[in-house]
Amino acid sequence: MSLIEVNQVRKVFETTVRRKGRFGTLTSLFRPEKREVVAVEEISFSIEKGESVAYLGPNGAGKSTTIKMLTGILEPSGGSIHVAGLLPHKNRKQSSYQIGVVFGQRSQLLFDLPVKDSFDLLRYMYSITWERYHHNLREFSEILEVGHLLDRPVRTLSLGQRMRCEILAALLHDPEILFLDEPTIGLDVVAKERIRAFIEKINREKGVTLLLTTHDMNDIERLCHRTMIIDKGKLIYDGSLQYIKDNFATERQIRAAYLDAVSAKAVAEVFAHWEGIKVHTDELVVRITYDQTRVDTSELLKLLLDRANPRDLTMQDESVDALISRIYREGMDGNPKQQQRIAKEAIAQ
Ligand SMILES: Nc1ncnc2c1ncn2[C@@H]1O[C@H](COP(=O)(O)OP(=O)(O)O)[C@@H](O)[C@H]1O
Ligand SMILES: [Mg+2]
Repeated sequence: MSLIEVNQVRKVFETTVRRKGRFGTLTSLFRPEKREVVAVEEISFSIEKGESVAYLGPNGAGKSTTIKMLTGILEPSGGSIHVAGLLPHKNRKQSSYQIGVVFGQRSQLLFDLPVKDSFDLLRYMYSITWERYHHNLREFSEILEVGHLLDRPVRTLSLGQRMRCEILAALLHDPEILFLDEPTIGLDVVAKERIRAFIEKINREKGVTLLLTTHDMNDIERLCHRTMIIDKGKLIYDGSLQYIKDNFATERQIRAAYLDAVSAKAVAEVFAHWEGIKVHTDELVVRITYDQTRVDTSELLKLLLDRANPRDLTMQDESVDALISRIYREGMDGNPKQQQRIAKEAIAQ
């Protein structure tokens, strides 16, 4: 059995809708109108020990709901979940020893008390030996640079400082798995980088398994060897980020700079009416954006160099960020390259 096994899991929330009209409130009180929200439609995946997996998807896709089920906060409406051999919802206490969890938008620290008090409470809750506790606290607070914050009330910390403390709190009891739900949301570049470096270290050196949701592509590039994409409660991709880049990045931009505007204009004119090519000229610089599935790069370059010698020439593929948002927008089938086959193969791999 894998460390995490998710089998045809569903989560349906039942919400009550307030009726409209004069007696709406009253009617709702006695005869509430129920509506079902399918947050997770049906997902299956497994994660092995030591993996670091990005769990991506647009807002409302079902990411947090999945994490809440994996950590036992929510009970699945159908299917089965095993985490470290346990059913998280049924064996909540036992499974909490195996997992650490950080929600970027929620705190597990006691707001008005010094940071250290929350850590002490966690030591008690998880029955961490004093030796282990002091060892972990010393090691983690050094790497995360939070040593000087331990006596400060949580409410006085900046978001970046608090997040570092949250991550430390989640790891004090040496969990095997760390779930991170948008841990870098709202942080500045430096704070993000610090957190990434730490998470990378505990994955590499301690073999802690990671499942991470994020909207920051740098988090994924730096931390995750595997990417799962969920959309409308369904898993639409499970594979490497490289695979997405190789097979879905269809757009490429060539930027050519010239010594004179006449050459730039002449080059721009060559490509002005090609299908699948967009040309943008800015005095001495020509930017050519094209679809690699429709336009042959070497042909394009030959024509370009034929016309005038550029002073500088660079080529750039569509950014991963743009790519993933395009997959959110268009789905995996919206892709001109081999379409669904790729997604199916990737999932089968
Ligand atoms: N407690 C709840 N009650 C009703 N609907 C919920 C609840 N929690 C989440 N949802 C709905 O389930 C869907 C998935 O939410 P969520 O898992 O938070 O998405 P994500 O984390 O990917 O943004 C959304 O449509 C959301 O409104
Ligand atoms: Mg969420």
